[in-house]
Amino acid sequence: LGPDRAAEVRALVRDVPDYPHPPVVFRDITPLLADGGAFGDVIEAFADLAEAHGGIDVVAGMEARGFLLGAPLATRLGVGFVPLRKAGKLPPPVERVDYELEYGSASIELRTGTLRPGSRVLLVDDVLATGGTARAAATLVERCGAVVAGLAFLLELAGLGGRERLAGRTVDTLLRAE
Ligand code: PRP
Ligand code: ADE
Repeated sequence: LGPDRAAEVRALVRDVPDYPHPPVVFRDITPLLADGGAFGDVIEAFADLAEAHGGIDVVAGMEARGFLLGAPLATRLGVGFVPLRKAGKLPPPVERVDYELEYGSASIELRTGTLRPGSRVLLVDDVLATGGTARAAATLVERCGAVVAGLAFLLELAGLGGRERLAGRTVDTLLRAE
């Protein structure tokens, strides 16, 4: 996204103060998703990032909003999509990692055997906040013997430590919120 288009796309992310509770400012991407041009430009921008990573075998997305961006990106790239799901949604056997959120705690699961060992995975999500979800997702992918080629986010929330929590990994974000 160039700077002008990035500003237009950013304006389609709604900032909702005190949701789900104070002092969180919730970043709602549903207006962006509802705009076909903006949604398409975001997927193209993710595809450019993926191509810069020198070959991705599979896209993995974190439930739920990571599915909305990761699945269209996978079809755009001509690769498969792997859902990383919240606890209790996938039938066994699963690998599981527990983590903390900006506003709670959660667990993420991946069905054992879904990823081929050595396959290069691009992790995709809408928001990078504390980085807890993304770090858990990367741990899960690596536990399955696959390689995290990069992590791509629509929106980085500055000041919550997400980048620091992902130190040493390739992290790209299309937009930033202070
Ligand atoms: C949100 C968001 C990211 C995560 C970011 O998901 O979509 O996955 O939080 O926060 P973090 O960097 O602090 O981990 P949420 O768990 O709210 O689930 P949802 O996508 O199902 O709404
Ligand atoms: N995930 C974690 N923090 C968030 C926020 N402030 N808005 C939207 N999604 C989030």
